[in-house]
Amino acid sequence: MSQIPLLDLKAQFETMREEIYEAIRQVVESQYFVLGPVVRKFEESLEQYVGASHAVGCASGTDALILALAALDIGPGDEVVTTPFSFFSTASCAYKVGARPRFVDIDPGSFNMDPEKLAEAIGPRTRAILPVHLFGQCAAMQPILQTAAAHDIPVVEDAAQALGSTYEAPDGGGSGHAGTLGRLGCYSFFPSKNLGGFGDGGAVVTDDEQLAERLRSLRVHGGVQMYHHEDVGWNSRLDALQAAVLAVKLPRLDLWGQGRAENAKRYDALFAESGLVEAGAVRLPRRTGTGRHIFNQYTLRAKDRDRLRAHLNEAGVGHSVYYPVALHQQECFQELGYGEGSFPEAERACAEVLSLPVYPELTPAMLEQVVETIGRFY
Ligand SMILES: Cc1ncc(COP(=O)(O)O)c(C=O)c1O
Repeated sequence: MSQIPLLDLKAQFETMREEIYEAIRQVVESQYFVLGPVVRKFEESLEQYVGASHAVGCASGTDALILALAALDIGPGDEVVTTPFSFFSTASCAYKVGARPRFVDIDPGSFNMDPEKLAEAIGPRTRAILPVHLFGQCAAMQPILQTAAAHDIPVVEDAAQALGSTYEAPDGGGSGHAGTLGRLGCYSFFPSKNLGGFGDGGAVVTDDEQLAERLRSLRVHGGVQMYHHEDVGWNSRLDALQAAVLAVKLPRLDLWGQGRAENAKRYDALFAESGLVEAGAVRLPRRTGTGRHIFNQYTLRAKDRDRLRAHLNEAGVGHSVYYPVALHQQECFQELGYGEGSFPEAERACAEVLSLPVYPELTPAMLEQVVETIGRFY
């Protein structure tokens, strides 16, 4: 039995090796490494792809979130309402601008913010609502946007895992790419993301010209004109080498998303055939049916998960737990005063979830091997 990694970036690289080397060569020849024409061109391609008026490249997905909150003038005394079941940056970004996160439990089916519980988390200090499109499936944006509008609060989307996924409002009230549905949308180009660079990178998109200007200033120390600062900003720019790589990859993004979605479908069928679903050993990821899920991760719930993990390790099947600890239970957020049981669905998810290899280059035989290996454990 061969080893199956959780993600195989080498397989992807092999499909575009020469194009990437040529793009990198051109940047090296130009000796223009930070922002500049290659970055701007990539930003334009991203604007076109997602359908946003402005894309502003920056140094990471984490910085994209921080810059987005800063552009909205969120700071000390303010609160950002978000989900406790996500990557750390979803909550740390609030801290980094001096604000505090406030959490809303998740819908156990989609793992995303439960829109029914959103209103009760909104208080007089709430200055932004920050839904995450976890694992590549959009949060329930229509009800979230409605609640946000009723309170006149901007929505900042954490679309770090969801570039390429779309949302269709259930009542036909509009659709769009993840990241373009709220006031600002944030992407990560970390190598394992749908569109991954050769290092860190990120971007913020918006249709708001003024916010875009502010973002462009904040990413260069708070001054569009060099050495003149209206704000105290950051050094958070996208490198030309990253942009060059991302520009080669962007035209292939939909194809990769399709490949992952097909693998997800195949997993669903294999697990159903195996009897593991019926036996209650695994619960498969649920599609909300509101748009395109691009499966940045194929994440199921598994009975006796941690012993299953040991079995998968022995069998050489890559996997991971996104995420083992809910954000409200992180040591650094204890001062927020949440305790065990504050968000039972998020906590349950942390104890049950397991992400399996779903990258597009997996063969049908590899998918079968993953499911058979899990079957042997149960
Ligand atoms: C949901 C979510 N938000 C934010 C980030 C932060 O992105 P980055 O690693 O590029 O800083 C990530 C990536 O790990 C993420 O998965």
